[in-house]
Amino acid sequence: MATTEKAAVEALQEQAKRHLWMHFTRMGDYRRGEDVPIIVRGEGVYVWDANGKRYFDGLSALFCSNLGHGRADIAQAGADQAKELDFYSTWSYAHPRAIELATRIADLAPGDLNRVFFTSGGGEAVESALKLARQYHKLTGNPNKTKVIAREVAYHGTPMGALSATGITPFRVPFEPLTPGGCHVPNTNVYRLPEGVPVESLAEAVRERILFEGPETVAAVIMEPVQNAGGTFTPPDGYFQRVREICDEFDVLMISDEVICAWGRLGEWFGAQRYDYLPDIITTAKGITGAIAPMGAMIVSDRIAEPFMEGEEIFLHGFTFAGHPVASAIALATLDAYEREGVIDNVRANEGALREMLESLRDLPIVGDVRGAGYFQSIELVKDRDTKETFSDEEAETLLRGYISGELFERGLICRADDRGDPVIQLSPPLISTPEHFAEIEAVLRPVLEGATSRMRLG
Ligand SMILES: Cc1ncc(COP(=O)(O)O)c(C=O)c1O
Repeated sequence: MATTEKAAVEALQEQAKRHLWMHFTRMGDYRRGEDVPIIVRGEGVYVWDANGKRYFDGLSALFCSNLGHGRADIAQAGADQAKELDFYSTWSYAHPRAIELATRIADLAPGDLNRVFFTSGGGEAVESALKLARQYHKLTGNPNKTKVIAREVAYHGTPMGALSATGITPFRVPFEPLTPGGCHVPNTNVYRLPEGVPVESLAEAVRERILFEGPETVAAVIMEPVQNAGGTFTPPDGYFQRVREICDEFDVLMISDEVICAWGRLGEWFGAQRYDYLPDIITTAKGITGAIAPMGAMIVSDRIAEPFMEGEEIFLHGFTFAGHPVASAIALATLDAYEREGVIDNVRANEGALREMLESLRDLPIVGDVRGAGYFQSIELVKDRDTKETFSDEEAETLLRGYISGELFERGLICRADDRGDPVIQLSPPLISTPEHFAEIEAVLRPVLEGATSRMRLG
């Protein structure tokens, strides 16, 4: 690196440490002198940091750069749109790209989910769905239906309403008291389901909770098709079908939170299609634009939208930039690319190979479980494979933050070592990844997990 370049990188480091407040980040690490990882460029499945080092983006940035990076053609669609109509809002007005995108999404979405309410991101989509559920019930004569049932350890975003659905205690506690009404049931962590407890009990827990709260007080159930936090918990057979029945029994809206699980991540346009259920509302964001522009959406069934389409009713809710013309144009170009380039077919064709690669790591004693669907997989790390004993908080800290995260990054693989539930390594590669890329991932994962095994004195 030339001296001037080095000086520029040092200046960026200094400015980042002094002025940038990174999200969900221990800023103290940088005050103590660690370098901020500064990503400056992306191309395909790779990104480069300010020092010129290349990384495999095994997390699609944050489960969102589904087409990989560096799509100048899609950026161009945004630039063209900005020249034609830079911005107009969707408050009382419409513009062609938002109309076209809503129509396109309605075509792709399952069943009668035909009404699209745009947002600027996923948390706003969840917030919108929770508010819509409340107003819907008020409009249809059930004013006391206000509560939402979500799952333990699930992440549904950080706005105060969405946070009341988020089931990660440390994320909730600093902001209490939260918006009232958030209730939680067990997630579908089948790996840790106590012996003798039938998997069917997981869906029945939703029914029990509705009865416990009082069905006349419950507005909605919100769940991801595959729950990210905790490590890609997939649903047992028939789980969502039973939850659907329970929702119908008690006039409770079923919200499928597909901020991650839509747009090919699970090998279908929508996660609900993979597991063959029909929610009342889908919340989404991230891959809708391939992350080339920020955007989210709430997709609502005709049945739930209907009371808002009559007389003088209004859904009293909105965001200035929701359905932004530039983001909408980029989303349309992204959906074109998904179709034209067979991106979702690629996930279907190769998810088995991704899984096979991860399963091959089971010979390492630290690998307790491998789970997930599509290009959305996790490895759960355990202290003892036979007893499934997990690591203490201090051990998890040493293991994940003290070794694995840094070591993976050092060796050029970005993925997530996470302990919001039990310790897991999460992989969510760009949907354009192929088995050759999985070999690259393995070439980093295996030695790092071997290192972790010997550091924790396992095996
Ligand atoms: C399932 C789910 N819901 C909501 C959110 C919040 O989305 P955003 O960060 O775009 O607000 C996320 C973010 O990862 C998510 O995974």
